Amino acid sequence: MALPTTMTCIEIRQPGPVEGMLPGQRPLAEPGTGEVLIEVAAAGVNRPDVLQRQGGYPPPAGASDIPGLEVAGRIAALGEGVTGLAIGQSVCALVSGGGYAQYCVAAAPLCLPFPRGYDAVRAAALPETFFTVWHNVFQRARLQPGESFLVHGGSSGIGTAAIQLAKAFGAKVFTTAGNAEKCQACRTLGADRAIDYKNEDFAEVILAETGGRGVDVILDMVGGDYLPRNIRSLAADGRHVSIAFLRGPRAEMNFLPVMLKRLTLTGSTLRPQSVANKAAIASDLAAKVWPLLDAGRVAPLIAATFPLTEAAKAHCLMESSAHIGKIILSVNIGQAI
Ligand SMILES: NC(=O)c1ccc[n+]([C@@H]2O[C@H](COP(=O)([O-])OP(=O)(O)OC[C@H]3O[C@@H](n4cnc5c(N)ncnc54)[C@H](OP(=O)(O)O)[C@@H]3O)[C@@H](O)[C@H]2O)c1
Repeated sequence: MALPTTMTCIEIRQPGPVEGMLPGQRPLAEPGTGEVLIEVAAAGVNRPDVLQRQGGYPPPAGASDIPGLEVAGRIAALGEGVTGLAIGQSVCALVSGGGYAQYCVAAAPLCLPFPRGYDAVRAAALPETFFTVWHNVFQRARLQPGESFLVHGGSSGIGTAAIQLAKAFGAKVFTTAGNAEKCQACRTLGADRAIDYKNEDFAEVILAETGGRGVDVILDMVGGDYLPRNIRSLAADGRHVSIAFLRGPRAEMNFLPVMLKRLTLTGSTLRPQSVANKAAIASDLAAKVWPLLDAGRVAPLIAATFPLTEAAKAHCLMESSAHIGKIILSVNIGQAI
């Protein structure tokens, strides 16, 4: 079938409040060498999209300025040199921008099949969170079976994936969340202890629950005043991974415990990494995590779905932090504005 020449997408016309993010029309991008064009059926919404809309997270060089870091749909065209993928195949893909659109270009090695029984909404909920959690928790922090793990923001898209993966790979899982309902959802996902951080001091709880030892790995998205408390909550030879700073990137810290406990402090951002680095994460995910998704042992939690043209409402929900799990945009290919 012939492809249209233009598509509906979401444009950030004026960085700042959601009013500056509006539906628009753009020409279809063409897939380059090693890329595919995906007819998007669903796109995930992630906190970095909100930061981009606010003007604080510009797309890296060469990336689309259309927001959206993950999509699911059917392959509509193949660029040169693409092997192992076919037009019409259903895939979900990690992209470095352009997801909030009817069509999106993706690097072929960053496309993964829909897990067994998945529709596009569930498949679109996977790439950004699963690439991020796998890379940071298992590749960087090397979480091992039998170790203990703390993830802050347990009810976030990232948190809901991290709890399930850490549990599936044999860790004892602690998490923090902002109210009782979120804590219950985290326990349902497999967390051994969910700490309502507004009513409990998470560092005190971790030390009490681990007999004063602390946890082996912390995945942190909060930063700020959490950093010294995280250091206190880590066991000897513990690993601390920073992926965001919801309470700011600066902290005053005593580094003596880092030496005394032989801690490792690391972190990463996914988006600017090379396709080769991300492809290495994708092949690890295909081998070690997709079988768990196929078997239903791990699954994305969908908080809400909005039509593409209502992306602003999706951002409002994310900024409210009322959601538990992933927020998804559904894309109607016949839809025009
Ligand atoms: N480095 C990377 O490669 C990478 C990739 C993807 C995402 N991220 C980051 O990972 C984080 C989660 O992303 P997401 O898309 O899963 O976001 P999300 O679903 O919106 O979750 C963020 C959660 O953080 C909690 N939170 C918000 N403000 C907080 C504060 N000041 N103190 C403590 N907790 C706070 C909220 O839950 P409560 O009600 O529990 O407070 C909220 O639900 C974001 O910060 C994002 O930027 C990093």
